[in-house]
Amino acid sequence: MSTALGIEMKTTALPRVEDKDGQRVADALSNVLADTFVLYLKTHSFHWNVTGPMFQTLHQMFEEQYNELWLAVDVIAERIRSLGFIAPGSYEEFNRLTYLQESPVARNASGMIAELLRDHETTARTARSALATARTTVDAPTEDLLTQRLAAHEKAAWMLRSLLAEE
Ligand SMILES: [Fe+2]
Repeated sequence: MSTALGIEMKTTALPRVEDKDGQRVADALSNVLADTFVLYLKTHSFHWNVTGPMFQTLHQMFEEQYNELWLAVDVIAERIRSLGFIAPGSYEEFNRLTYLQESPVARNASGMIAELLRDHETTARTARSALATARTTVDAPTEDLLTQRLAAHEKAAWMLRSLLAEE
């Protein structure tokens, strides 16, 4: 293809990474995206519905956590697009791709903390597994992103675990 300036451009269709390697990384990232989205929604709903003497602390802490997760969802989805693949974006797809369980049941405050702790640990495992996939394909930007996600989930898990610990 020739541009207006007459420069020859190669019309390369995405994906740019080796197709099958990119697909493996995009699939792994899609699991991380689904876990992150489900955990985002659950954390936001717990922010709305938490009750009890720890209300103020938990209401605020859940808000910080869902804001962090919401920003992460965008970064993960856009990495999938950068690799040249379609980012999942429906509840049906997220339900199929996530390792987390939805939580329709109303829980008390400590039940919410325990559930979010378990979900951050699960999402950290999903991110760790995706990180291993990214390493085998030498995809440094994805490795970087997943390293940050891993650290965020481990930090959130530590904070939630601390709330449940005996003094
Ligand atoms: Fe709010």
